[in-house]
Amino acid sequence: MSQQNQKNKNRIILIENGSIYFYGNIEVQDHEGNTLLKDNRISFCRCGKTSDQPLCDNTHKEIDWKADANADTSKMPPIEETEHGKLLIKLMKNGPAILEGSYTMESAEMGEHSSSKGVALCRCGASSNKPFCDGTHNDIGFEG
Ligand code: FES
Repeated sequence: MSQQNQKNKNRIILIENGSIYFYGNIEVQDHEGNTLLKDNRISFCRCGKTSDQPLCDNTHKEIDWKADANADTSKMPPIEETEHGKLLIKLMKNGPAILEGSYTMESAEMGEHSSSKGVALCRCGASSNKPFCDGTHNDIGFEG
């Protein structure tokens, strides 16, 4: 990958027992396609208890929320050299965040893995396959 592409890529960084950082060309939309936020840096809640959805407000520390910083990369087919345009985060009503675009998911635990697959990230904090949604939001009545 060229230096320019490395610099411009969208990055998702998993934080152990904490939020997900997004860096790059990021846009957040609600479930109706309305733009809620455009930024180049977002700290995204994944414990489900923030009072500032979808952003992290550090509630995970107060509730002692636990999650490792790993991901099942089989859900993220690797991609080759690619243009890194906008990474769209679509918030499903009372459900996950759907990613559209190219990105690299990273953590100290898992290293770096690039993908452009439209995965669903858990927002309720209760998935047993974090950071991905496994449908548990329906069982716990997540609202957001
Ligand atoms: S949003 Fe958490 S399991 Fe779906």
